[in-house]
Amino acid sequence: MADEMEKIGTAIEASQKTVVSREKEIGEDAEQPTGPVGLDIGTSHIVMAQNRGKNIQTVKQLNAFFTIPRSQFTKKILEENSVSFFEKNEQFYILGYSAENFANMFNTNTRRTMERGLLSAREDESITVLQAIIDTLIKKARKNGEIICFSMPGEPRGGNQSVIYHESIIKMHLSSLGYKPIAINEGLAVVMSELANDNFTGIGISMGGGMCNVCLSYLSVPVITFSLQKGGDFIDSMVGVSVGEPATKIKTIKEKDLNLTGTPRNRVETALHIYYNDLIQSLIHNLQEVMQGSDRVPKISQPVPLVLSGGTVVPRGVREIFEKELRSVKMPLDISEVRMASDPLNTTAKGAMVMAISETM
Ligand SMILES: Nc1ncnc2c1ncn2[C@@H]1O[C@H](COP(=O)(O)OP(=O)(O)OP(=O)(O)O)[C@@H](O)[C@H]1O
Ligand SMILES: [Mg+2]
Repeated sequence: MADEMEKIGTAIEASQKTVVSREKEIGEDAEQPTGPVGLDIGTSHIVMAQNRGKNIQTVKQLNAFFTIPRSQFTKKILEENSVSFFEKNEQFYILGYSAENFANMFNTNTRRTMERGLLSAREDESITVLQAIIDTLIKKARKNGEIICFSMPGEPRGGNQSVIYHESIIKMHLSSLGYKPIAINEGLAVVMSELANDNFTGIGISMGGGMCNVCLSYLSVPVITFSLQKGGDFIDSMVGVSVGEPATKIKTIKEKDLNLTGTPRNRVETALHIYYNDLIQSLIHNLQEVMQGSDRVPKISQPVPLVLSGGTVVPRGVREIFEKELRSVKMPLDISEVRMASDPLNTTAKGAMVMAISETM
């Protein structure tokens, strides 16, 4: 019991630290972390979090790649410019943020190792490339058995995909680097990061690029978890199809200055409003359905908070739409408020690190 109390104290302390975040720079070496690590392996980004005294430091890499034909000359140029890449099947695989620069130059899209939250079945080399992208952030463990907590989606609703394969592949890779990998549900990571003052009780939601993840946690125990294989990418492609523009162009507009509180000013904004509403409605509908169908909803006397995180919650108005939609349905559990995570793009990595720290106690 004393141990448990100490663990909780450590988790609370860690979750209250300030996050200092940055993007991985091109040519910058991977780090060899000291102490426990949190790793958020997302469809769009991979984020590594480490404990650094008063702060939590996060480094982010783009989970994308781009291939170009192999040539001795190009190899030299890539090396001189410190571009991360590897060679396979007569091709150069360019990794992370570097890949984005290449794709822009060729006026096309980067390729992804993951799709809708899980390893992509459409890319032959998705495993090798994902491993290589992870390796741009993190080197072999300094100490064998160092703990890494990495985020895992909940089982997808309404699909035939499972997270087992994805989880095993990542575990194998992290073990081969000398770490002791522990999977943490992405929704629970949100709870660990944001709900310390609520006894780690409430609903954590991450709305990312490939999916939305939900966890109802009671005293840090995941009671209900699930994922929806729809997220920011879904919005981009559906809006794109509706207005006849490429999804990447929509993504740029969406990330630049979307305000969901105002009246849409044009066709693209109208479509963005429509698909944001659609995504939030399906998320709430699924939450209601899963909770109603479960005999595990705890009898909590007090209403619990709900926290929103992930890149897709960033535009103004997401919280308000969520709250309005939530009020229009009857939930088996009373929700006290809808809160925004303090740093939505780093919440999962931070929560995974909080978990990693408490696992070392
Ligand atoms: N300012 C912004 N406005 C709107 N959307 C944004 C903004 N910034 C990022 N996004 C969207 O957030 C998504 C990426 O979020 P995030 O990094 O949390 O996802 P992920 O963790 O990589 O993916 P997942 O958890 O779904 O596997 C993308 O769809 C991106 O377009
Ligand atoms: Mg995510």
